[in-house]
Amino acid sequence: MASKLVATLASFLLLSSVGVIIAIAIIQTYKITYVSPGLKYGIVLDCGSSRTTVYVYEWPAEKENNTGIITETVKCNVKGPGISDLGRNSSQDEETWKHFKSCMVQVKEKIPAFKHNSTSIFLGATAGMRLLQLQNETASNTILQDMRNYLQSLPFQFQNASIISGEEEGLYGWITVNYLMNNFLERDLWNSWVRPHGAKTVGSLDLGGASTQIAFTTTDDAMGEGLTKVTLYGYDYTVYTHSFLCFGKNEAEKTVLAKFVQGSTDLNNVQNPCYPVGFNITMTEEFIFGSECTKDLRISNYSPERNITIFGGGDAAECRNAVRQIFNLSSCDGSQNCSFNGVYQPPVSGQFMAYAGFYYTAWALKLVGAPTLDKFNSTLWSFCSMDWTKLKRNYNINEKHLKSYCYSANYVYTILVDGYKFNTASWNDIRFERQVKNTSIAWTLGYMLTLSNMIPAEAKHMHLPMENTLFAGILFLFSALTIIALVFLIILLIRTCY
Ligand SMILES: *[C@@H]1O[C@H](CO)[C@@H](O)[C@H](O)[C@H]1NC(C)=O
Ligand SMILES: *[C@@H]1O[C@H](CO)[C@@H](O)[C@H](O)[C@H]1NC(C)=O
Ligand SMILES: *[C@@H]1O[C@H](CO)[C@@H](O)[C@H](O)[C@H]1NC(C)=O
Ligand SMILES: *[C@@H]1O[C@H](CO)[C@@H](O)[C@H](O)[C@H]1NC(C)=O
Ligand SMILES: *[C@@H]1O[C@H](CO)[C@@H](O)[C@H](O)[C@H]1NC(C)=O
Ligand SMILES: *[C@@H]1O[C@H](CO)[C@@H](O)[C@H](O)[C@H]1NC(C)=O
Ligand SMILES: *[C@@H]1O[C@H](CO)[C@@H](O)[C@H](O)[C@H]1NC(C)=O
Repeated sequence: MASKLVATLASFLLLSSVGVIIAIAIIQTYKITYVSPGLKYGIVLDCGSSRTTVYVYEWPAEKENNTGIITETVKCNVKGPGISDLGRNSSQDEETWKHFKSCMVQVKEKIPAFKHNSTSIFLGATAGMRLLQLQNETASNTILQDMRNYLQSLPFQFQNASIISGEEEGLYGWITVNYLMNNFLERDLWNSWVRPHGAKTVGSLDLGGASTQIAFTTTDDAMGEGLTKVTLYGYDYTVYTHSFLCFGKNEAEKTVLAKFVQGSTDLNNVQNPCYPVGFNITMTEEFIFGSECTKDLRISNYSPERNITIFGGGDAAECRNAVRQIFNLSSCDGSQNCSFNGVYQPPVSGQFMAYAGFYYTAWALKLVGAPTLDKFNSTLWSFCSMDWTKLKRNYNINEKHLKSYCYSANYVYTILVDGYKFNTASWNDIRFERQVKNTSIAWTLGYMLTLSNMIPAEAKHMHLPMENTLFAGILFLFSALTIIALVFLIILLIRTCY
């Protein structure tokens, strides 16, 4: 009689436990799909020297301070030149603004309207504007103010529009890479956040149009030039970062061209070993010498409007040699902790991610991922030796860019090997990539994370949301009851049988 009562009780307990567990599972699923606070969005405009790119990021609102949860929703390239060219030619300006607005229409469509007023918008301008600021500060201030007025007229929460320094740009790029790769924190077995085993971070190699940045952690705690201490999620990092103005892909190419023009006696027949055989191009003197980066290299009778015609020579060895000339390598005087132009740099160490212009150059050569140094060199060598007709036939790349890849491949080789001092072994630690987890590697994400305090310096904010803990507790309790009930039933069953 008593055993029958116990059996009934245990069965009831078992059924109700299973019921509660199922109910919790349904409620949780429902909450995640329908009632969760949903996604939050952030917008960052990357105003580079050659163009502006608009990034929209999204993340689950309740996980704001977690790591590795932000992804890219939209990336829109604003057609036309960079913002530093605004104010030069009113019909071109009109075109640029039109393209700006069309990107913003795309952005507004992607973000649900009721979230517009809670979405932050940031603008960061890089080397193109740094150069304009040096050349004409009034012009750069006017452009920034116009951009602020425009961004404030949008339905989003305007946060900041300013020129960021090269060192900030390098650091934000490093933060982006490591955030996306989950190098700052990971979940342990008990579902709390801990520093990943080994705590290794990845170095960042960024190549823009007008500047290039390197950033990596170092154990050198001399706290010299270029070293910054950052605290992220409660851990300290010493990050070396340096930005070389005028060493972006396009500005460095102008410097190389300027040297070829200087060494030529006939402006209608300038030889350039970096362009392919069979290729020729006419450009104004202003295109080459009008930049702040090349103004000291102007030829004696400089005349902006005059044309220069350049013919390709397709010679990798001569091109390499010419590219090397723009780096002051002797200024380091054999020191191991120096890159070029006399700039302090601790020896490179650890893995590196090479993105932006580094990636596009490797991509053009069909070398993305981690090609060896020998492979990189031999591929660029045969690329440089192809004549223009063959190049156009073999590569489906816009001619405007295709003509310059022999130069940029030599530039990438030279800055990494002769400049930063990567050797055959350490080169294998470099990956040429554009994205991590479908999100572009760009300084913009690190900028947004930093300016909106989404990477706390301290780790103590990093606990699980309360309600999850509560649910976990209830789930645990009922699971325990289920097991107890099951054991009871089995015991009773055994007893009844014998
Ligand atoms: C994220 O951290 C900030 C400060 O560290 C805090 O004010 C904010 O409430 C946190 N957000 C969430 C969703 O926990
Ligand atoms: C945002 O807009 C909604 C209506 O769409 C309004 O209820 C809310 O108060 C606004 N929030 C802010 C911060 O302006
Ligand atoms: C905007 O950013 C710059 C540097 O990135 C900073 O100096 C400035 O204080 C920021 N302004 C605001 C309003 O946050
Ligand atoms: C220069 O290139 C054009 C094609 O862009 C070609 O038609 C022309 O013949 C070339 N000129 C010389 C002198 O090779
Ligand atoms: C320079 O070349 C362009 C096109 O190649 C041509 O339209 C222009 O008239 C030339 N300018 C001069 C001053 O010769
Ligand atoms: C550079 O390295 C040398 C040894 O290789 C060392 O003596 C020197 O102090 C270092 N310089 C700096 C600025 O760290
Ligand atoms: C690069 O490759 C070319 C052709 O294979 C070779 O002649 C040259 O010596 C290589 N350069 C280096 C530095 O390895």
